[in-house]
Order: sequence, then C-alpha cells, then structure tokens
Amino acid sequence: MKPFSHITTQFTESVIREMTRVSHAKGGLNLAQGFPDFEPPDELKAAAVQAIHGGCNQYAITFGEADLRQAIVDKACQYNRISYNPDTEVTVTCGATEAMIATLNALVNPGDEIIIFEPFYENYGPDAILSGAKPRYVALRPPHWTFDANELAEAFNENTKAIIINTPNNPTGKVFSRSELEAVAGFCIQWDAIAVSDEIYEHILYDNEAHISIASIKGMADRTVTINSLSKTYSVTGWRVGWAIAQADITGRIRKVHDFLTVGAPAPFQKAGVYALGMDAAYYNTLQYRYQQARDRVCGALAAADFIIHPPKGAYYIMAHAAQLMERFNIKTAYQFSLKLIDRTGLATVPGTAFYHSEAAGNEYIRFCFAKNEKTLDDICLRLRRL
Ligand SMILES: Cc1ncc(COP(=O)(O)O)c(C=O)c1O
Repeated sequence: MKPFSHITTQFTESVIREMTRVSHAKGGLNLAQGFPDFEPPDELKAAAVQAIHGGCNQYAITFGEADLRQAIVDKACQYNRISYNPDTEVTVTCGATEAMIATLNALVNPGDEIIIFEPFYENYGPDAILSGAKPRYVALRPPHWTFDANELAEAFNENTKAIIINTPNNPTGKVFSRSELEAVAGFCIQWDAIAVSDEIYEHILYDNEAHISIASIKGMADRTVTINSLSKTYSVTGWRVGWAIAQADITGRIRKVHDFLTVGAPAPFQKAGVYALGMDAAYYNTLQYRYQQARDRVCGALAAADFIIHPPKGAYYIMAHAAQLMERFNIKTAYQFSLKLIDRTGLATVPGTAFYHSEAAGNEYIRFCFAKNEKTLDDICLRLRRL
C-alpha cells in the first residue's frame, strides 16, 4: 500500500485518553482526564432538555446561534473586559478543542512558527503540527512556573505567527499575571504575532487570584483570538460547545475552517449555553469555593503521601513532584510510576512527560485532576494512604 499520512507519525496518541482507558480496564478511579464527576446545575440540564423538546434538533447556524453569540460577547465584555461584535467576531465551535485547531488552520502558513509555553496542554503540540506550524517551546519553570523574559524574547522572530497562552494553566495551575501578559503582548506587537488565548478555566481560581484576558491589554484586541467553552465552567464537558472570539478578518477565516471541519456545534446545547452564560455571580462563587476545598484536600493528602506540592492558583489539576516516591519504589519514569499508582491505589493519573515535547522532561511529575465530588475526594485521600 502507498504510505499513509506522514503527519500522523509526528505525534503520539493522547496519553491522557490512554490513561483513561487503562483506568476503565482496571476499574480504577480516573484522575487522568479533566472532567468533573458531579452534575451540572439542574436548571442548566433542564434548559438543554427543553431545547430538544422545543424542536431544536437540526443544524444550528454554522458559526453559532445568534442568541448564543450575543450571550458570549455580553459575558466577555463584563468578565473579560473585551468588546467584540457578535455578528462578525464570534465563532461557536465543538468545544475549545475545535476552536484551537480551526484557529491555527485559519492563521498558519507553511514555515510559520508557533510559540508554546511548556509544560502545555497535550493538544497544542499535535494542533501545531496538524496545522503545519513549527512549534517553539518556552519553559515555565517550577515551583511557580515562571518564564524567563530573555528566553521568550529569543523565541520570537520574523517567522512567529502566534503564541498560545493558557491561563489559568493546565497542567501547572499557573495564572498569568498582568505584567507577564504585558510582556507577551509587547513581543506580539513587536513581531506582528497573534496571541491565541485558551481561557477555559477562567472561573476556576484560588487564593483571590484574578483572571486577565490578554485581549484586554492595550494593542491586543485585534491580534488576539480568545478561546473558551462551556466544558469546565459549567461542568458539561460532553456537550461540546466552545467558541473563538477575534476581529472580523480572522473570524471570517476561522468560520470557513470550522464549517468544513464540523458544520456546527450541537444545536440544543447552544440554546442551553445561553442560559449558562446568563447565570449570576453566586454560581461562579460556589464553583470556586467547591474547587478550592477540593484543591486543599487533595494537596494535603498528596503531601502526606510524600509528594512535593505547590498548590495550583487556578484550573483543577495538581502537578505533584514525585521524585522521592519514585526513588522509594525504584521507578525511573513518570509513565511507569503512573502505572504503579493505578496498581497500588487504583488512581489513574497522567505522567508529567505528557506535557513536554522532549521525552526526558517532566519525568518527576504526575498530574492529578481533583474535579471530584465529596465522596470521591474521601476515596482519593484513603487510596493515597496505600502509598
Ligand atoms: C487547556 C484546555 N483547553 C481545552 C480543553 C478542551 O476543551 P473542550 O472540552 O472545550 O474541547 C481542555 C480540556 O481538558 C483543556 O484543559
């Protein structure tokens, strides 16, 4: 047979999804994939059911229902302090996942480079490769996952088309500060590059951290694509509704790619999305409180089990330093240690290496997702004692 696509040999299968399957096969508790094991609000579910019963069961407008696009810009104006036109500057997609790949396909030409902070959410590497971009990585260094401004400066050049920001960050829990975002913005302006900003955890923040959208920084509104979704904020990762907000020229291109990739996001869940985005401050406060409690409990249990922990400032993951435990069990790789964790505790996790492009990096880290209900959190704490 003639050779199949070369591009598919340039990245591996998702380790997160692989660990999820191992977890299912071994009857484990899945702390690998980022989704909550509790239900979204009843009224939100009712809004989706009502949309289905109300006859909203055919294709939506390809780039998103008008009322959802309006709700997206209203909320972005109020929460993110950014102002865009719902008719020409918003594309509703099948999750942030599709928003990211559609955006990169809309922006990238052969030879273009994309800067990615590392460790990074697993999808960004393959996203860059699939769109034909050359990824360049800039390190976020523990314990506070800061970057070196000189290293960032060196990563930019005339081939830089875009930089991917993810704040609050998966897997590190870092929340980018205003001065860090201003530094990134300065380079984007200097090198005529676009910021592609994945803000899917924007409401999951701890210790009074504030979320800042890079599009709100002076000079960035026209050179940012802000990506978001219903998945994490409203605990509906299976609904597959996300969006990209960007100036009209970029949006026109994203819409074209999106149309031919997926035609459109699920129509009834778009209707329910209008309800979700209209929820009041109490909803977000309760969500934050719940996650803060979960974070503190799991951090405590991990520290007691001899992981070294720096509590995340946002999102719902802990990058736990496991070198001491790996030595105790005489295990050399984070991947092997993840398998050991499933065998010994039944907890499925992600080896830190999944978040780095080179195989050697991230080898002392294990990522735990703590988006879990009270009962599961009790169980996690008990299971960790088996270490
Ligand atoms: C940083 C980040 N972006 C995007 C996604 C996927 O989002 P969606 O469910 O909206 O496709 C995830 C899921 O874990 C994520 O962590």
